[in-house]
Order: sequence, then structure tokens, then C-alpha cells
Amino acid sequence: MAVISKRLLLSDLVSSDKIDQVPSNYIRPVSQRPNLQHVVHESIPLIDLHNLHGPDRSLVIDQIRLACREYGFFQVKNHRVPESTISNMMQIAREFFKLPEQERLKCYSDDPTKTTRLSTSFNIRTEKVANWRDYLRLHCYPLQDYIHEWPTNPTSFRDHVAEYCMSTRGLALQLIEAISESLGLDKDYINTQLGKHAQHMALNYYPPCPQPDLTYGLPGHTDLNLITILLQDEVPGLQVLKNGKWIAIDPVPNTFIINIGDQIQVMSNDKYKSVLHRAVVNCDKERISIPTFYCPSPNAVIGPAPELVTDDEPAVYRQFTYGEYYEKFWSRGLAKENCLDMFIAT
Ligand code: OGA
Ligand code: NI
Repeated sequence: MAVISKRLLLSDLVSSDKIDQVPSNYIRPVSQRPNLQHVVHESIPLIDLHNLHGPDRSLVIDQIRLACREYGFFQVKNHRVPESTISNMMQIAREFFKLPEQERLKCYSDDPTKTTRLSTSFNIRTEKVANWRDYLRLHCYPLQDYIHEWPTNPTSFRDHVAEYCMSTRGLALQLIEAISESLGLDKDYINTQLGKHAQHMALNYYPPCPQPDLTYGLPGHTDLNLITILLQDEVPGLQVLKNGKWIAIDPVPNTFIINIGDQIQVMSNDKYKSVLHRAVVNCDKERISIPTFYCPSPNAVIGPAPELVTDDEPAVYRQFTYGEYYEKFWSRGLAKENCLDMFIAT
């Protein structure tokens, strides 16, 4: 009979207790399981950003528009984040999750309002079924407000992660301009709606799982922020919902996966959709993924762009502050209804 785990972190349960069954608190009801045999392997658009800075910019903008409309997801290459920055980031994440349990537990907290914390699953204060994941969550912009909270072990953690954050922020700003343009808005429109801007990241660690058909790394969800820039290692696990089918996105070295979050869906007045995605686990390999969540600052007022609201297409959402949205998102369960539904215009 499977037991309920007494350990705070999943990685320590898996590595120390040598379990050969998923503990009962991780098991999904039959109707909510991942059905891995029904997943299809398809690709999402791969967009070369090289031409974003030349005479063919409008062609790249067209590709972004199409990808945002049809998929809500795309991959990018020639993104200007150096290969060494990416490999150092991945290496430091790997080293962090290999630290002794006592060392990692120094960062542990299940309080979602903490700006630097190591936790497990999604939100253990609100969820009924746990997820097969540990994660370190960091706020990372403005850097000087948060870097002193970050781990100092491994010793180069702060240096490598700070470099990665600054570089991915540059990419986020390019993408935000391009997405703004692709909606027919001024290229600075979205940028100027974000207050002082914010950036968070997660280092996700998915240990091998003895029964991957029964549980999730992360169940289907949309991202609450503006856009997400996902770095993943070479182990597959990300799946995206398209036309009612789950598509597995196989990793491509040195590319990032970009997805539209809830705030772009709101600003675009539903022209672009924040698409459901999930992470599944597997029997024999651990997996690391590192999403960068680019966000408005908490006091930024978000709503449909006035230029995209017409008599025929009235505002779908009311205005709200990002802080209000953030709080609602974390206090409801991931598997529940879409958070956006709570902000529909009346
Ligand atoms: C997330 C997420 C996907 C992955 O952290 O929001 O969707 O592949 N992660 O880990
Ligand atoms: Ni996500």
C-alpha cells in the first residue's frame, strides 16, 4: 500500500527512500490522468530572431502574429542569449538540486508571497493532490532588490543566475516590442503598460517517477504573467494543448520556448490566447526546466488595449492591477477554472 510522504521535498523522498510506487497523495483520480499514449508529437513554430533587427523585421512580426494566434507558443533561435550563459545557468541549477538536503532546506518555504523560496509541487497550502516537482522560485528584477536573498551555495549561483536574468530580460523586451507590433499597436505600447516591470524565474526539478501515468510534474495550466521564456534540458516533458490534443514539445538545443501568458491575452482582448500546457514526468530520467516569467509590476493597471476594443469586439476583461491578479492566481488551485474567468467584464 502506498504511503503519504513525510519529507518536505520530493527529491529527497525519491533519492533517499528508494520508492517504487507513487505515494497516494500524488495519485490523480482516473479522469484527470495524463493519458500519455494519446499524446502526439508535433512541432511548434521555430522563429529565427536574427531578422528582427534588419530590413525583414516585418516578416518576423508576421511569423510571431501567426504563432501567437494559432499556438500561443513558439520557439526562438538567434535570440542573443549567449550559449555559455545558458549552459552555466543549467549547470548551476543541476548543482543546486544536488546539494545535501539540509543545505537546500535553508531556502524552504510554502508561503507563495516570499520572493525567494524553495518549495515542492505547486501550492501545498491549497492543493488536494501533489505534483511531482520541486522548485526554487526567485524574483529577479530589479536585481539589486532581490539578489541578496538568493542562495550562495553553489558559490557561483548569484553570478551565473544574475547574468542569465539580465540576458533573458533583454530577450523579453525584444519580444514584447515585437508582440505589440504584431497586434497593430505601437511597439512601445505593452512596455509602457507594465509599470516598473518585474521578472520572476523558477528552477524546476522533476525527479524520475516510478509511475508517470498516475501524476504530473505540473498539471494543465496557463501562465499568469505576460510572457514566459522557457529553457529546458534534453529530457522531454513539456506538452501543449492544441485543438483538444496534447502535443509533446521535444527539446531543441539553444532555443527557448516562448509562450503567451494571461496578461497578453487580456491586453490583446482575446486576439492571442494564453494556452494550456503541462509537464509530465518519466520513469528513468530527472528533468530540469527553467522558466523566466516576465511580468508587469504589482501596481500596473492591466486591461484590454483601447485600440483593440470596438463596437464589434467590446472589452472582454475589466481593468485590474497585476497585484490583484497575482493574489487570486496563487490562492486558487492550478487545476481549477481559468483564473481569467474571474476578470471578465460585466
Ligand atoms: C511552468 C511550466 C513547464 C516545464 O513552470 O509554468 O509550465 O516544462 N513549466 O517545466
Ligand atoms: Ni507554465
